[in-house]
Amino acid sequence: MRAQERGVLGVVGTGAGGVETLRTGLVEPALARGWRVAVTLTPTAGRWLRATGEADRLARLTGLPVRDAPRLPGEARPHPDADCYVVAPATANTVAKLALGIADNQALTQLGEALGIPAVPVVVFPKINTAHARHPAWQGHITTLREAGVHLVQGPDVWPLHGPRAPTPRQDLPWPAVLAALDQATN
Ligand SMILES: Cc1cc2nc3c(=O)[nH]c(=O)nc-3n(C[C@H](O)[C@H](O)[C@H](O)COP(=O)(O)O)c2cc1C
Repeated sequence: MRAQERGVLGVVGTGAGGVETLRTGLVEPALARGWRVAVTLTPTAGRWLRATGEADRLARLTGLPVRDAPRLPGEARPHPDADCYVVAPATANTVAKLALGIADNQALTQLGEALGIPAVPVVVFPKINTAHARHPAWQGHITTLREAGVHLVQGPDVWPLHGPRAPTPRQDLPWPAVLAALDQATN
């Protein structure tokens, strides 16, 4: 597949451990699949990835600025419209806000709009622990997103949940499952 033949993939990273592997785990493989990639980060993830120089590396790699703040009203949109979104890793916070329609940062503004555009698939990998999953509102958020057509990457085979206070075994983010969900959502 030639470069950028697939359309524009909006990649959204949030403030969850493992977001530092966004480039190698998701962006580079998506570029290799022929997507043009536009990266948007939540303010937390933006702070983390700017501190390490990773945001600059992502911008150089994709040829587009990494967004973690809204534009001014008079500024041009820095990204082309996305044909598909992948949110990975997605914090419990971002999943909850997306389900509720809260759009208080640039990433959620784009994602909330995408949920209302049937032609734009949205893939979400919630990177959560057992405490997040037991929050009384969690299952409702997941049901809302599933009913909105969101492709959820989850389950014990993909991301086994661990308690928040126990030492967690080292787990790489399930990038192959995220990429498989992207392929399935867009083929
Ligand atoms: C080192 C570190 C790792 C974190 N990992 C996670 C995580 O895996 N999942 C999660 O839901 N929150 C995690 N958090 C908490 C989120 O960063 C926090 O809830 C933040 O407000 C999320 O904002 P965002 O959803 O806008 O990125 C982590 C925080 C820190 C400091």
